[in-house]
Amino acid sequence: MKSIGLLALLLVASAAIADDSSSVEEGLVPAEPCTPDTKCELPNCRCSSTNIPGGLLPRNTPQFVTVTFDDGINVNNIITYRNTLYNRFNSNGCPAGATFYVSHEYTNYVIVNELYNQGFEIALHSISHRTPQTYWLEATTEDMKKEFGDQKIQMAHLANIPYESIKGMRIPFLQMTGNASFEVMKEYDLEYDCTWPTTAHTNPGLWPYTLDYASTQDCIVPPCPTASFPGLWVKPLVTWSDLQGVPCSFVDACFFTPDRTDEDAWYEFIVTNFERHYLGNRAPFGFFVHEAFLSAWPAVTRAFVRFMDLVNNLPDAFMVNAHEVIDWVKNPVPTDKYKAQSCRRFIPTNCTPRSCGPLNSSHNGMDYWMQICNVCPRVYPWVGNPLGL
Ligand SMILES: *[C@@H]1O[C@H](CO)[C@@H](O)[C@H](O)[C@H]1NC(C)=O
Ligand SMILES: *[C@@H]1O[C@H](CO)[C@@H](O)[C@H](O)[C@H]1NC(C)=O
Ligand SMILES: [Zn+2]
Repeated sequence: MKSIGLLALLLVASAAIADDSSSVEEGLVPAEPCTPDTKCELPNCRCSSTNIPGGLLPRNTPQFVTVTFDDGINVNNIITYRNTLYNRFNSNGCPAGATFYVSHEYTNYVIVNELYNQGFEIALHSISHRTPQTYWLEATTEDMKKEFGDQKIQMAHLANIPYESIKGMRIPFLQMTGNASFEVMKEYDLEYDCTWPTTAHTNPGLWPYTLDYASTQDCIVPPCPTASFPGLWVKPLVTWSDLQGVPCSFVDACFFTPDRTDEDAWYEFIVTNFERHYLGNRAPFGFFVHEAFLSAWPAVTRAFVRFMDLVNNLPDAFMVNAHEVIDWVKNPVPTDKYKAQSCRRFIPTNCTPRSCGPLNSSHNGMDYWMQICNVCPRVYPWVGNPLGL
């Protein structure tokens, strides 16, 4: 009797040791499903769901609008950003926000510093943004550390902006990398990911959630994370519907669109997609686009500006930096209380611009010039040598 008990104990103990060693090795545990009994509460935990945070009614819920631009920032695309985004205010008197998912190659960091000091959000989109897309599909945690963890250090250094101000990331081509990108977020203190599209939860729309428990979101570009990542946020890309009802994550990726020279039809197209959110469960509405699309199609740009004017005049819609949405979801308050809150703050920084080059690049042997807010690097900063030492 006693020996059987001891044997059982040994078996349990060795199983526990085996379990332990594998989870220490991986550092990851599978996420458990979220059930009605699950203890997951704001501000740090939220199960994936289309429920409005705080149990608010739609009419009391601020409608957030997040405008985002991807890729390198340079002397050409800044013109569009200055013309369309600067000196724009929401109905609560706070400056309108926008978020830039910046990739490193050809980025002008003096201009990144300008965008930051205009109050916009600077987020990560990898150092190399390399092709093919399968590179990202197969990327290991080590690869992702070099592309995103190192990029956080690089961005803060070259653009002279606070390291802590960088909170979000988006993987190139919206290619998920399973657990890997979230492991990097944990290690480098990033708060949210804005890579993951949903076509299944658009009406009502999926609200941001954490990965403490298993996500119920559809995985459009696998692999999606299945481990538990307590406190890390997913800001889903709730897709638009084009004129034939085909979903699109990016405005410039929609297929059946109005004629790109028809401003009125484009305005209507944007507003129709917005209303799915505004007249629904008010899940944050995304206008995700590349600047090249706007500069190629002036009528679309005019429609976009009219749409932002509309949002800025609505008493209960707010164009904000993406991480402000996460802040609100953590502490959801009704629109009237939200409007009484102070505007977002940021620590202003300065930039002593330096023009550096020619800088030899180890990855392709090319010479690069770069504009930065720091001492010139020795070689062109790249994956594995983010500061170009
Ligand atoms: C993510 O981690 C979980 C838990 O360790 C594991 O079961 C799963 O296979 C991992 N996913 C990928 C794509 O590696
Ligand atoms: C530039 O870097 C490449 C690759 O590392 C190297 O082969 C080449 O000699 C370098 N050129 C100069 C001028 O240093
Ligand atoms: Zn990109």
